[in-house]
Amino acid sequence: MKPNEGDLIAKAAEARQKALAPYSGFKVGAALRMKDGRIYTGCNIENVSYGLSICAERVALWKALSDGAMDFAEMAIVTDADVLTSPCGACRQLLWEYCGDIAIHLHSLKGLQQEHRLANLFPFPFDNRSV
Ligand code: THU
Repeated sequence: MKPNEGDLIAKAAEARQKALAPYSGFKVGAALRMKDGRIYTGCNIENVSYGLSICAERVALWKALSDGAMDFAEMAIVTDADVLTSPCGACRQLLWEYCGDIAIHLHSLKGLQQEHRLANLFPFPFDNRSV
């Protein structure tokens, strides 16, 4: 684990505790670090209409962008699942648009961990080079 990676995972784990996930019971935390070191966190927030629920990754991204943040370096995603949780397709599309090829650290409180590049998780994207 690199020096600052543990901090980012700890921030995501802290954010996860605020998850509002009464329908799935599946709590997710995310932490997005800018290249200058600033960190924005998010948790999943569910709604009784299910479809309006939003992933932790998008909450962190929206918080960052709405604060004027840009130039992102990495994201950590934390759950307590038996297998690692990778971002959903919608989040991959949005992360690619605004963060580009960032490092994605997947972590489970059960002791699992992996690092990926977003470009590997989201190959052959539809992006602004496509239009
Ligand atoms: N979820 C996330 O927040 N991030 C992911 O990467 C996968 C799924 C949330 C959405 C929903 O609230 C719950 O997990 C179950 O799908």
